[in-house]
Amino acid sequence: MGALETPLCGLLGIRHAILLAGMAGGPNTPELVGAVSRAGGLGVLGVSGTTADATAEATRAAVRLAGGAPVGVNLQLAGATDATTTRERMLKVLAPFREELGLPPDPPPPPAPDPPLVLLEAALDAGARVVTTWHDPAPVLPVAGAAGVPVLAMTTSVAGALAARAAGADAVIAQGSESGGHRSRFGPGAATASETGTLALVPQVVDALGHGVPVVASGGIADGRGIAAALLVGAQGVSLGTLFLAATESGVTDTYRRALRETLPQDTVVTDAVTGRPARWIRNRIVDALVTANAGTLGWGAQGALMADLRREATRQGRADLMTMLAGQAAAIGAEPRPADRIVRDLVEGTGAALAAARG
Ligand SMILES: Cc1cc2nc3c(=O)[nH]c(=O)nc-3n(C[C@H](O)[C@H](O)[C@H](O)COP(=O)(O)O)c2cc1C
Repeated sequence: MGALETPLCGLLGIRHAILLAGMAGGPNTPELVGAVSRAGGLGVLGVSGTTADATAEATRAAVRLAGGAPVGVNLQLAGATDATTTRERMLKVLAPFREELGLPPDPPPPPAPDPPLVLLEAALDAGARVVTTWHDPAPVLPVAGAAGVPVLAMTTSVAGALAARAAGADAVIAQGSESGGHRSRFGPGAATASETGTLALVPQVVDALGHGVPVVASGGIADGRGIAAALLVGAQGVSLGTLFLAATESGVTDTYRRALRETLPQDTVVTDAVTGRPARWIRNRIVDALVTANAGTLGWGAQGALMADLRREATRQGRADLMTMLAGQAAAIGAEPRPADRIVRDLVEGTGAALAAARG
């Protein structure tokens, strides 16, 4: 039995305990999700920010491409937060960048996405067989439970893991501070909690939950060495985001791919300045300007909406200095383009090799 055939594989119906982290906003195309599942891992669609129709279509495509293997869906469940600045102040900070990109000073409101439970119903109807969550999973547990679909709740803390398990989550994804993307902070003390690295967080979550509950490690893992380390501290699987951005099937642009290859650990920063909730971004001109301005935000939801057309236009123009790009601290590891099935195979083989080397 391979090191990545853990009890988590039985829960999810997969061959290798490797998850493609749910990444909303474009990276996780149906082709990427389907390829990871087909290769024996779990492909997970990130559907937040879209509509029920788009979710159904993407899920059906991913399920078809997975060739009978299960496909998961990821939902963002954090509520809106209050503004700590005014729209005028924020527009003033963004004005030079908007002008540089040829955008009007005041952006039009983007179309409203459908609420998470509507997206969940659409994904389940279209064949999603696993749910992963960002933030408190409580709202989705009854729906997923009624459909007989396991829920994996992502959390940055022991308190969050205990809360998710008490609410009925089947497994926990322990998200360390190295992670790219937004932090899944919820549960007692979450608002003021400091960040915890993956190797410190995973064993403490495993100990707190007891050994029967699967724990998946997430954050800064990008090759077999990282997976071996996660397994040795008690994880039953891993969830990788940044590494899969480099897959040939991912939806990111060549500019983003190049930036990932060039991103050293110190080139990323965790800040709430871009979207109103803390996330790890590649440092560039616009991210640094938002951090330095220290101008507050319009809060989760409104801040992202204000940034939407700037983000899209900077991406369209291939402006690495003005695109807002999420990435983890291990971005440069394995960042050369490879097909997703090859990535999964390399991870499985690399894990075996790393564990063999550790045994001497
Ligand atoms: C581009 C990007 C988008 C992300 N979007 C989501 C998301 O929509 N939902 C979610 O639960 N996590 C999201 N995450 C966080 C991942 O679930 C995961 O915790 C993280 O990628 C793990 O760290 P790594 O990037 O070092 O592998 C995102 C991460 C990245 C890099």
